[in-house]
Amino acid sequence: FVRALMSKGRKQVSLPGPWSFPIIGNLLQLGDHPYLTFTEMRKKYGDVFLIKLGMVPVVVVNGMEMVKQVLLKDGEHFAGRPNMHTFSFLAEGKSFSFSVNYGESWKLHKKIASNALRTFSKAETKSSTCSCLLEEHVTEEVSELVKIFAELTLKKGSFEPRNAITCAVANVVCALCFGKRYDHNDEEFLRIVKTNDDLLKASSAANPADFIPCFRYLPLRIINAPREFYQALNKFIALHVQDHLSTYDKDHMRDITDALINTCHKKYATTKTATLNDDEIISTVNDLFGAGFETVSTCLYWSFLYLIHYPEIQAKIQEEIDGNIGLKPPRFEDRKMLPYTEAFINEVFRHASFIPFTIPHCTTADTTLNGYFIPRNTCTFINMYQVNHDETIWDNPSLFSPERFLNENGELNRSLVDKVLIFGMGIRKCLGEDVARNEVFLFLTMVLQQLTLNKCPRAELDLTPTYGLAMKPRPYQLQAEPRSTGGAS
Ligand code: HEM
Repeated sequence: FVRALMSKGRKQVSLPGPWSFPIIGNLLQLGDHPYLTFTEMRKKYGDVFLIKLGMVPVVVVNGMEMVKQVLLKDGEHFAGRPNMHTFSFLAEGKSFSFSVNYGESWKLHKKIASNALRTFSKAETKSSTCSCLLEEHVTEEVSELVKIFAELTLKKGSFEPRNAITCAVANVVCALCFGKRYDHNDEEFLRIVKTNDDLLKASSAANPADFIPCFRYLPLRIINAPREFYQALNKFIALHVQDHLSTYDKDHMRDITDALINTCHKKYATTKTATLNDDEIISTVNDLFGAGFETVSTCLYWSFLYLIHYPEIQAKIQEEIDGNIGLKPPRFEDRKMLPYTEAFINEVFRHASFIPFTIPHCTTADTTLNGYFIPRNTCTFINMYQVNHDETIWDNPSLFSPERFLNENGELNRSLVDKVLIFGMGIRKCLGEDVARNEVFLFLTMVLQQLTLNKCPRAELDLTPTYGLAMKPRPYQLQAEPRSTGGAS
């Protein structure tokens, strides 16, 4: 890194940062919660500093203004992904979320994926009162989840909700991607849910080969496990995509896979310019499948925990639902009528900050930041957690308070909502934000319209996350009590 600076022949001021050991760099200083460690380090080194993860120099960016500089103003210079060993499994060169290839064909790839997601998630349904297919799929899954929650409470008195939530969200993603939902006990379905979980666990564990590059050649399980899981997932997705390719009918769009096939084949037919080949369609579906699964289920897992931890907040949401929707089934368009519920969701995003960093970025060219020179191909971490807990933006940031997002008329303060950083921003921003916000809203309102969620009497709840790509709460038990006023399905 230092050589790269020197070779530029410029007089450089080196980035501040903690002293690091040879080979392991600052790995031992990261602790169990690196986003908190970086928040502490910021006090000493400022918004931008350099650490070494093993032998890899990483620029850490904190503070809203500096994050905006990196993701928006200088977005093009920071829009790459680093060449990490773990990503190389996920990417296999074709994923637009993880691949190191950044340029015009990447932009086209992301545009095609965004269009397919948008086109499909707004696609009309002819068979129900729902406004679109996405709403129909989510409604169906939440109805099932409400039943499962009530049954589990009857049978066991209380239960751990993670599994049921994961299956419900996985089914929405399956329906989105392949037009198909599964029974929660279906063997193929459970295998895929498990493989996805294994892949996430294997990729969340600090992989030594990411930080000490020569380790990638060692035949160790911790280094190579993610490849196995990724390949199993890719095989499942490839089978579905192949099936879609052979049954595709341009006049009957079933799901995102059809929408992707449609865009790619139509564009090629009219312009003869390259779009995505069939392998790239498979990896695009894989990107959407993986991204839409863990994030939304983690968000719901946190939301239910906050609801049982703060029963008075849960009661206010139910009051808002009863007053503004009554017994009619909630719909996406009701979001504007339920500002307190929207405020709650944004406060979960902010307070839990369950995705503390964006996916790592990488510089695409030599650049400067805050007066410091940063060479091309430098890995960059964006500390979203720090922004979401910054005392210069948020009053009493550690307090969980949906009210902070409401003005004196009880309306949602949109400019404050925009300051919550959970989907990233700029070129690499999450393309599923609208889908995720709609999905989470419908899950919460449908569940709370029909059930009251309680913690077990005398149980102590713990809001400390366990660190990972998407941070989970520690396991907890809840009880679901049917509401006398609820009944819509
Ligand atoms: C990327 C958050 C749901 C698709 C990301 C990133 C974040 C994020 C932080 C990385 C941004 C960056 O690197 O700068 C979330 C959260 C979600 C959610 C908090 C739910 C609460 C979804 C859903 C989908 C999706 C439902 C699709 C169905 C993607 C894709 C990328 C991405 C494809 C990669 C974008 C790129 O590399 O340019 N998301 N996401 N996400 N998300 Fe989401």
